[in-house]
This record gives sequence, C-alpha cells and structure tokens, in this order.
Amino acid sequence: MHVDVTFTAQEIEAATVAGRNVVVIDALRATSTIITALVNGCQEIIPVREPAEAMKYRDEKGYLLGGERGGLKIPGFDLGNSPLEYTRNVVEGKKVVLCTTNGTLALANSAAARKLIIGAFLNAGAVAQFLAGQGGDVLLACAGTGGKFTLEDFLAAGVILHKLSKIRSNISMGDRAVAAEAVYLQHQDNVEEALYRGHHARDLADLGFSQDVEYCACVDKFELVPVCREMRVVLPYKR
Ligand code: MLT
Repeated sequence: MHVDVTFTAQEIEAATVAGRNVVVIDALRATSTIITALVNGCQEIIPVREPAEAMKYRDEKGYLLGGERGGLKIPGFDLGNSPLEYTRNVVEGKKVVLCTTNGTLALANSAAARKLIIGAFLNAGAVAQFLAGQGGDVLLACAGTGGKFTLEDFLAAGVILHKLSKIRSNISMGDRAVAAEAVYLQHQDNVEEALYRGHHARDLADLGFSQDVEYCACVDKFELVPVCREMRVVLPYKR
C-alpha cells in the first residue's frame, strides 16, 4: 500500500485518482458538514460545483440546498456550510444538495477513483480502519482553499496517516505524506490550537464561526465512513 497526498482540489486529475482509494478531506468545513448531516439521518448528499447546479433542485420535494461562498450561505439556499446547522430535526430523511468552494469541487474532480470516501478529523480512525481493510494504493486529497495549500486539511491527512500506520506496518508514504504525519504529531495534543495557526480557521472565526472550528477539530467523534458513488454521498460503512 502506497499513500500520497495532494494539496488542492485543482490539483486532482482523473489520472491521479484512477485505481486508487481516494479520501477527500475538507476539514473546515465541507467534509465535516457531510459527515454530520449523514450522522443526523440525512439520506444522501449530492455534491455540486456551482450554485446553478444546485438551484435545479430548488422546487424538488425532499431536497435541501446547502452551501457557501466566502464562508456564508448562498442566497436562495436553505442552509450554509456550518456543520452545526445540519441537525437531526433539519436534515433527517432529507437529501441535501451541497455546493461549497473547495470541498465539493474536490469530490467532483475525484469521481474516477476506485473508491471515493469522505474524511475529516471527526472520523479519522474509521477512515484509517477502512483503508487498512481495503488494501491498495491511497490518495489523501486535501481540498485546500482557493487553489492554495491549507493547514487544516494537511493536519487531518496527517492524523489519518498516523492511525493507518499503526494498523498496517508495511505502508510506503510519499514525501508529502511523511510531512503530513510529522506535522500532525507535532500538534496532536491540541488540534484546535493548531488550526488557528492557519488562515482559514481565523477567517471563519472572524465570520463568527469559531464554534465550527472547535467542533471540526474533534478527532474520532464518529465511527463511520461516508462513501461517494456516482456523485451521491451515503453511509454504507458504520464501524
Ligand atoms: C469549502 O468547501 O470551501 C469550505 O468548506 C468552505 C467553508 O469553510 O465553508
């Protein structure tokens, strides 16, 4: 098993993901929101690149539109991208069409993967278990922010790698993967504090979403692995 890491959604190409198990990571906040919505009984998440694609579902019964631009709710949508909005009484039994700047773009760009799963701090251990059970090469696909490297996704890749390397001893890592695990080990005692060393967490706090940062920094809050098939994210794997 060989593990590599990519930094941005824009870096992901079909050739890079083909034949690999791909974990899309957008710890702040898209993949944390997807995990939370599914935990709270959402039937499925439909990730789209552009708000116009989501608007096609505007009048469909049983669909909610969720997403952000600039961190804030898109006009005409039902929900923003704060995982704390996706409570059971809001999403249970519903389908959510989700449009975010980086996370849903990374999912769309990873469609050619052998298996495509959702990762974050919230389910890092369950993702590591899943990858160890699957075998085969792995790509940890960080969504990044606006085409740039972003610290929180790299840290989340690092915790998944660290847990995976404890389950399977014979994994080989690309240099980015080695660096991700090393950076995580440096900050493993206070992930939330480490997130604030990155600009995205500070930007979210400036917008009033510091509770989101605190929530998304929780490691192993859930023991489940959402999977994306034909651009539908559902919950087949519960540990
Ligand atoms: C994204 O997908 O770009 C992020 O999740 C944006 C956000 O923080 O809401």
